[in-house]
Amino acid sequence: METRLRIAVQKSGRLSEKSLKIIRDCGIKFGSDSRLLKEEADNFPIEFLYLRDDDIPRYVYDGVADIGIVGRNEFDEQDLPLEELKDLGFSKCRLSIAVPEGFPYHGLKSLEGLRIATSYPGILAKKLKEATVDARIYEISGSVEITPAIGVADAICDLVSTGATLASNGLREVEAIYYSTAIMIGHPGLSMEKRAILDRLMLRVDAVMRADDYKYIMFNLPKEHLDQAAAIIGGMKSPTVTPLLDESWCAVQSVVQESRFWDVLEQLKALGAQGILVTAIEKMAD
Ligand code: PRP
Ligand code: ZN
Repeated sequence: METRLRIAVQKSGRLSEKSLKIIRDCGIKFGSDSRLLKEEADNFPIEFLYLRDDDIPRYVYDGVADIGIVGRNEFDEQDLPLEELKDLGFSKCRLSIAVPEGFPYHGLKSLEGLRIATSYPGILAKKLKEATVDARIYEISGSVEITPAIGVADAICDLVSTGATLASNGLREVEAIYYSTAIMIGHPGLSMEKRAILDRLMLRVDAVMRADDYKYIMFNLPKEHLDQAAAIIGGMKSPTVTPLLDESWCAVQSVVQESRFWDVLEQLKALGAQGILVTAIEKMAD
């Protein structure tokens, strides 16, 4: 039987869609019928296990799944000896303290002696300890946001992404204690065969992520300004330069980091660049 790398992804929730998208952007084809528990990809030796996100670190630790995509929050909370393979950057969220409207909050000290409901007792306890606050942590696995209204807790510590859940429960976010993004985790003792599949997968994931960070730029430039333009673009290897019919001009192609893009564009304009074309990059490998 062919060896397949088993990857655990969230069945439904904040991470699921983006987790599948990054795999699909890697050119891997599959049906993504998440009603299934398990599914094989068509053109790459991986198979998916669709699970509750909270269960993913455990399954990877036990070796039921070889790798998984999970929020850093679950990874840190469960604190299992797993390999962190890559920060995928998506599904940003924070773990925040929230209190009912009207609660006088002046920092963590305001929680002294009170009850805080959370699904993240480990991360919260660590934070309270650092702040030398003695509070009662009430561990609950879901619907944390309703606990103040039913009198079970005085405050909560829960994940916030858009803030909609808090708002609709009359809670006010007062302090973020932890930030999270989706990460790829791995079982520490993968076989050589599985490690080889993982390496192939990571090459693709890296290429997809890098492509998102860059733009492809083409423009015409008076030749005399070429050195200055190269310095502005910076980063990678020198740009590709093609001669034009008019010998005092040249055509330049390069990649530019998304974060610097507008800055670079303005500077190139100032150098006399013309006919500037910019396109997204689909994949970018080293
Ligand atoms: C988190 C959290 C809230 C919601 C907040 O749940 O428990 O319910 O997301 O998002 P919002 O600020 O955009 O409203 P999560 O996605 O981890 O699902 P789970 O608790 O069912 O695992
Ligand atoms: Zn969850």
